[in-house]
Amino acid sequence: MEKRKNGFASGIGFILAAAGSAVGLGNLWGFPYKTSQNGGAAFVLIYIACVLLIGFFTMISEIYIGKRAQANTVSAYKAVNKKVGWFGLVAVIIPAFIICYYSILGGWTVKFTVNSFAGNAGILPTFSVNTWEVILFTGLFLLISAAIIMGGVEKGIEKMSKILMPMLFLIIVGIAIYSLTLGTGVNEGLAFFLKPDFSTITPKAILTAMGQAFYSLSLGMGIMVSYGSYTGKEISITKSCAMICIFDTLVALLAGLAIFPAVAHFNPELLGSSQGVALMFIILPEVFESLGLIGKIVSFAFFFMVSIAAITSVVSLLEVVTQFIIQKYKFNRKFAALIVIAICFLVSIPIGISLGHVAILEESGPAFFGLDGLTFFDSVTNTVLMPVCALFACFSVGWILKPEKAVKEIEEGGNPLPNWFKKVFPIMIKFITPALILVVEIGGLYSEITNGNYAVIVFAFGLVLLGFVIYTLFLKDSNTGTNADEKLSEEYIEN
Ligand code: PFF
Repeated sequence: MEKRKNGFASGIGFILAAAGSAVGLGNLWGFPYKTSQNGGAAFVLIYIACVLLIGFFTMISEIYIGKRAQANTVSAYKAVNKKVGWFGLVAVIIPAFIICYYSILGGWTVKFTVNSFAGNAGILPTFSVNTWEVILFTGLFLLISAAIIMGGVEKGIEKMSKILMPMLFLIIVGIAIYSLTLGTGVNEGLAFFLKPDFSTITPKAILTAMGQAFYSLSLGMGIMVSYGSYTGKEISITKSCAMICIFDTLVALLAGLAIFPAVAHFNPELLGSSQGVALMFIILPEVFESLGLIGKIVSFAFFFMVSIAAITSVVSLLEVVTQFIIQKYKFNRKFAALIVIAICFLVSIPIGISLGHVAILEESGPAFFGLDGLTFFDSVTNTVLMPVCALFACFSVGWILKPEKAVKEIEEGGNPLPNWFKKVFPIMIKFITPALILVVEIGGLYSEITNGNYAVIVFAFGLVLLGFVIYTLFLKDSNTGTNADEKLSEEYIEN
């Protein structure tokens, strides 16, 4: 059989790349601060349940949809049924918006890495309003990510993941061990993180855990469809998903082990506090600063690791959009990647500026419908659109393709599934997982409405409508390409 030229060369390469997408700011920053805000250990247990009940099955569906089509997200959903090809276009539009604000945070992490030896304590308020510096670091972050995409799936994404993910893992293990040996406070920090007290759990905490599971596993935005499309028959979808979920959860737990004992040691009054942005960009730098040279080295290792996590995540977002452009318009990969980052960079500028205005004026500046750009787009994509897109995946597998057919196709290529899975999968994917996702969606909409953020909802569903209209007018009856089209690119073959 001819070797696929634009796919993952190995199962482990695919798993590490998908884990690279999943492990990001959501694990290292979001998970600890949400755990802190939502009662500690009980939240952690609920989060793990969400990974099992929602994340695992949604991920299987997304990877399966991509793998069976061997094509970009639009063509992949078209292969499910031509009528639902627009699900795939929505799954291109969402990552495009996420890139624009995630890269700003990515830029912050690069700035904090390079600034580690000068000291990061207290720089956030000045750095985040220094528009030029923010733009510079955002651009730098995007360029690094695009360079990886330009290398292609095997020689760019896979190669990078095989180097960076083990490195990230070693660094987080090292920092966790360091934290656990700090002495005073470590036990209190551990108890907060690991000893559940279910009286702290509120409905909001459950919804937060559900949303976090989606976000952390990179679901509901085409990434797993796109990465899945680059895998071959030899890869077991279920085993790969299990490993990606375990890796992602492990890193989140290690981040907790690194952060809570340190917070309890240095700032015990902050355990269980509502500090969000502050945790990673203000409190940890203060901790590092108090440790002298060792602190500077740990700070460098920590922010370097966070930058790696952010880069491997943005790379996956870029790939969804780039893959579609390459295959639909038959552009070469480098050109397509450049177009995508140029546009995303331009859109990220007003978002970066809006953050500065909010901080300077201490109120919403000339921003996005009364919110800063980061909060606005984060709510549009994470709160409203990601569950919608995940529902598309479950609906496609559970109700259009049908779980029985899915089980058969997943088993193809010598990947037998255990009997319990064959029994559980149809019920999960048709009823339970979508019902839970619906709860996340309704909860998200409710919170946006109660906060008066109607613009978020209108904008989000406007994008869904836009996806539907563009698909119907321009893509439904035209060829939207497959991975094989990229094989034809001479430049890629030379590479
Ligand atoms: N899953 C990654 C994280 O936990 O930070 C981030 C992420 C990647 C979120 C891609 C969203 C996304 F589309």
